[in-house]
Amino acid sequence: MFSTAFLDLPALQGASGTVTLPGSKSISNRVLLLSALCQGTTVVHDLLDSDDTRVMLAALRQLGCGVEAQGTMVAITGLGGRPWHAEAVEFFMGNAGTAMRPLTAALAVQGGDFILKGVPRMHERPIGDLVDALRELGCAIDYLGNKGFPPLRIGTPTLQLDKPIPVRGDVSSQFLTALLMALPLAANDRAITIEVVGELISKPYIEITLNLLARYGIAVERQGWERFVIPAGSRYMSPGSIHVEADASSASYFIALGAIAEGDGIRIQGVGADSIQGDIRFMDAAAQMGAKISSGPNWLEIQRGSWPLKGITLDCNHIPDAAMTLAVMALYADGPTTLRNIASWRVKETDRIVAMATESRKLGATVEEGPDWITIDPLPANQWQRASIHTYDDHRVAMCFSLAAFNADQVPVRIEDPKCVAKTFPDYFEALFSVAHATAQNIPVICIDGPTASGKGTLASRVAAQLGYHYLDSGALYRVTAHAALLAGLTLEAADEAAIAELARSLPVRFEGEQVLLSNVDVTDAIRSEQGGMNASKVSVLPAVRKALVDLQHSFQRLPGLLADGRDMGTVIFPNAPLKVFLTASAAKRAERRHKQLIFKGFSANINTLRADLEARDARDMSRSVAPLKPAQDALQLDNSSLSIDTSVEQVLVWWQSRQVFG
Ligand code: DC
Repeated sequence: MFSTAFLDLPALQGASGTVTLPGSKSISNRVLLLSALCQGTTVVHDLLDSDDTRVMLAALRQLGCGVEAQGTMVAITGLGGRPWHAEAVEFFMGNAGTAMRPLTAALAVQGGDFILKGVPRMHERPIGDLVDALRELGCAIDYLGNKGFPPLRIGTPTLQLDKPIPVRGDVSSQFLTALLMALPLAANDRAITIEVVGELISKPYIEITLNLLARYGIAVERQGWERFVIPAGSRYMSPGSIHVEADASSASYFIALGAIAEGDGIRIQGVGADSIQGDIRFMDAAAQMGAKISSGPNWLEIQRGSWPLKGITLDCNHIPDAAMTLAVMALYADGPTTLRNIASWRVKETDRIVAMATESRKLGATVEEGPDWITIDPLPANQWQRASIHTYDDHRVAMCFSLAAFNADQVPVRIEDPKCVAKTFPDYFEALFSVAHATAQNIPVICIDGPTASGKGTLASRVAAQLGYHYLDSGALYRVTAHAALLAGLTLEAADEAAIAELARSLPVRFEGEQVLLSNVDVTDAIRSEQGGMNASKVSVLPAVRKALVDLQHSFQRLPGLLADGRDMGTVIFPNAPLKVFLTASAAKRAERRHKQLIFKGFSANINTLRADLEARDARDMSRSVAPLKPAQDALQLDNSSLSIDTSVEQVLVWWQSRQVFG
C-alpha cells in the first residue's frame, strides 16, 4: 500500500496481463455479520482485508465472537444461542457504512447497552430512516449528536412485530439490508413483514443480501420490491464454509483499463459475468462504450474495442459505485456522456457528484452537474492539464482518476492521499502497476551520488519512501557481486574479470526492505562490512563487471519511479534522469558520522584515522580512471555538513516538486 502524501502516476501507455482482485466489501461484511449471528463456526474464505472489514471484525470481537484469522481465511464462531456481551460496549465504526448500518440494526433488535460512533464524516452520513424503522418496531435508540446521524446509543427494546415495518428505500438500500439481516433474530415464533416506502434504490445490493441470507438458512419471501417477509421459525444456520467473490466494483477499474489501454488485454481473476453482485453490470455499460469483454466462471477478459470510446447516456441507479468509473472513461469518448439517477452519490464517502466534477475539471474537462446527474465531455489531445487530484478520503475517487494517466498528452497525474484506497483495495496501485506500461522516458528517476559516508544511502531511501518510489542501492550490487565472486572461488583481480562479469550478468540478488538476499541467502551483514566495501571497490574498477551490471540496474526503473543511489547513476546509467543530486559533506563531518555509526555498532574506532582513510579514499575515487567520483554536469550540489537528514530530504523534495509542477 502507498502511505505517501501523494502518488505521482507517470503517463501510462498501455496495459496487459492478469490481476487477481480482493474479495468484495459488501459480501465480506455481510458474511461476517451473518456468521456472527449463527451458532457454531463458519470458515470464511477470500475475505477482503480492508478498513471496513477490520472495523466489523473488531466489533464482533468486542461482542464476544470467536475470530481466528489466517491470511484471507477467517473462522468466525457465532453468538447464536449464547448471551451477547453483557456490559456496556462502545464501538468505533470509522467511516464504514457497511458495518455501521447492519450492526446498528442487529444490536438494536438484540438489545443491550451499546454506543456506535465513527469518524467525523460518519457523523454526517444519514441513518435517521433506519433508526425510524427500528423505533417503529420497538427498539430503543438515542442520538448522541445531531438528530438523524451517528453517534447512537442503543438500549433494550420492547419488540412489536405484528404490523408490517416500514423502511424508506430511496435514500440507501443499506437500511433495508440492515433490517433483513437483523430481523431473523426475532422471527422465532412469528413471520415479520418489512414494507419499503418510496422507490427502492440499489436493488442489486438487496439481491446480494437475499442471496446470502439464503446461504445462511433464511428464505425471505420477496413480493415485488415493496414487501419482504421473513417466515416464522427462521433461524440462522451456518453454511460451514463460504467463499467471498471478488469485488465487482473493484473490477470496474480494470474493465475500464482494458477498454482504454492499448495492449494484449486484461484478465480479471476472482469474479465473472455470473456474479451475484449488481455492479458486475458495469461490464454492459463498458461494452456500450466500446470495450470487448468475454467471461467465464470467476474470470473476465477485456480488450480495447471502439477507440475513441463512445459517449453514452445511462441510468446508473443499478450500478451506483461502478458508475463513477464511467465518468473517467467519458474523458476518452467521442461525445458527451451523461450519467443519470445518481442521487445516492451525494451521500457516499463524500459528495461524489461534486468530487467527480471538480477533479475532472482540474484535468481540463468540461462538466455539467445536476441534483442527480452529471455530464462529462471528452477531453481531446492538447487539452489535458497536469492535475493534483484531491481524493476526499474516498477510495473510488482515487482509483477512478488513476485511469486519467492514459491521456493522449502524456501528462502525469498526481493522486493525493493514495492510501484512501485501503477502504476496499489496499493494493490497488500495485495491481495497476503490475499490468500498466510506461515508456522509460516517462518513469522518473532521481539520482543521488556523493563521496563515501556523505549519507547518500539514507537520503535516497528516505526520499524514495516519501514519493513511494523504488530504491536502487547500486553500491550493494557491487558488494554482492564481490561476495558472489569470492564464494565462487574467484579473486577480485583483473585476471578473473570475465568470470566475475559472467556472474554479475545473472546475479540472483533480491532486495526485501533492508535485507539483501543472494540466492535466497541473507547476505546483508556480510556485504555491509568495511571489508565488503573494499571488495566492492575492487570489482567496481573492472569495466566488464560494470558493463555486466547495466541491464540489472536499468531493470529497477519501474512504475511509479526510482531513486538511484551510487557512483555513475546520473552520468552513465540514467543520464536523462530529470533530477540529479550530488551530496557532499566535509571530511571532518563524514568522519564524525562514520565514527558514531561504528561505535553504535560496538566497534572501536579512531576518528582521526577514519578521517585520513576517508580523504585517501576520496582522492583514489576521484582520480580512478574507471567511473571516477565526480558530479554529473547537471547535478545539483547539496552540502549537508550542517543539515539534519530531514532538512536534506526536504531540500531534495523541494527541487523535485519544482520540476514536477501539478496544477
Ligand atoms: O556506496 P557503497 O559504499 O555501497 O559502494 C561500494 C563500492 O562500490 C564503492 O567503492 C563505490 C563502488 N560503486 C561504484 O563503483 N559504482 C556504483 N554505482 C556504486 C558503487
